[in-house]
Amino acid sequence: MNSNETPVLDLPQKEAALPKVPGLASRPAPKGSAVVRVGVIGYGYWGPNVVRNLQSLDNCQVVAVCDKSSDALRRVHRVYPQIRPTTDLADVLTAPEIDAVAVVTPVWTHFELAKAALENGKHVFVEKPFTSTSQQAEELIELAQRRNLKIMVDHTFLFGGAVRKIRELVDGGALGPLYYFDSTRVNLGLFQHDVSVIWDLAPHDLSIMDHIITEKPEAVVSTGGHHLNGYADMAFITIYYPNNIIGHVNVNWLSPVKIRTTLIGGKDKMLVWNDLEADEKIKIYDKGVNIANGQGVYDLLVSYRSGDVWAPKVEQTEALRVELGYFVDCILNDRTPLNDGQAGLRVVRLLEAADYSLKERGKLVRF
Ligand SMILES: NC(=O)c1ccc[n+]([C@@H]2O[C@H](COP(=O)([O-])OP(=O)(O)OC[C@H]3O[C@@H](n4cnc5c(N)ncnc54)[C@H](O)[C@@H]3O)[C@@H](O)[C@H]2O)c1
Repeated sequence: MNSNETPVLDLPQKEAALPKVPGLASRPAPKGSAVVRVGVIGYGYWGPNVVRNLQSLDNCQVVAVCDKSSDALRRVHRVYPQIRPTTDLADVLTAPEIDAVAVVTPVWTHFELAKAALENGKHVFVEKPFTSTSQQAEELIELAQRRNLKIMVDHTFLFGGAVRKIRELVDGGALGPLYYFDSTRVNLGLFQHDVSVIWDLAPHDLSIMDHIITEKPEAVVSTGGHHLNGYADMAFITIYYPNNIIGHVNVNWLSPVKIRTTLIGGKDKMLVWNDLEADEKIKIYDKGVNIANGQGVYDLLVSYRSGDVWAPKVEQTEALRVELGYFVDCILNDRTPLNDGQAGLRVVRLLEAADYSLKERGKLVRF
């Protein structure tokens, strides 16, 4: 290793075999204990989506919502008069009638709240990114294991029709061996006051990449900068995988236009996922390049293949609903979620490495 490289700790092992279509192939809940009672902490921007989707599930009941803000609690009460609004965390964390806690608060609070919930015997659903440090993530994983409780990290996109379809195509070999995964998630704002664009937006792309490329990353390089409040507002993260697979994520809060596009290149075919398209979000291009050596040493025989383009059908179900249904199912049937604490930890490690590399102006961080 040369002086430009910095080691970080090992990435946790991925599941050898992940369920093919998470959540949808769920078994029926066992008779008798068919309802999971949930307390939700945090009812700001994302919390209402979590509460609405939990409430829509047959085998789930939201018992209480806790928020520090009385405005937020008024909103809860207006929509759900049957749910107990509270400013007291203990009303959720220690309530005997609550089986699971959803932590939908800012990143820096995730660890303390999830830890308190696990210590009180509750399963936890924790927003992305799982924790602020990998050490915190490891502690929560260990605690949950000891108490035989579930952790699910909200990696929402894994449960949308597009990512499920992409995973199916890649697993089925439709693209051939992978060359690269290149994801762009840019728009104007929303500036966060407590985290950089890496910790706010990149968890989406990194969790998707972690799900599609099942090999362990080898190294990370990240560049970018901050222009307004001291937190990075744009970042270009490159991830090196075995077999010459390159991952790349471009996240930016200073873009005049919104782009949500992922390119996945394989030896046989190439895929474009534009999440802003209403229909035909995914297109598969039968395009590729072959290079062979000609007679002379400097003769390169390059042939380009340009065939059909097709758009597979992508399911339009709300990802968060599928995910929360899967959370409830994992609790009722004692199953380990594919987006468990280990998956959350893998993403946090990539975020830490990207953060470090960016601050060091593109230093290579090896795993
Ligand atoms: N999965 C996704 O697609 C997605 C989308 C948006 C946000 N998120 C995540 O959701 C989390 C919350 O984000 P947000 O945009 O809703 O934030 P927000 O600031 O809009 O809302 C957070 C709420 O939590 C409350 N709160 C904070 N600390 C509290 C505490 N100790 N006790 C009780 N209430 C507390 C605040 O009063 C606020 O109402 C973040 O981790 C974010 O990364 C995920």
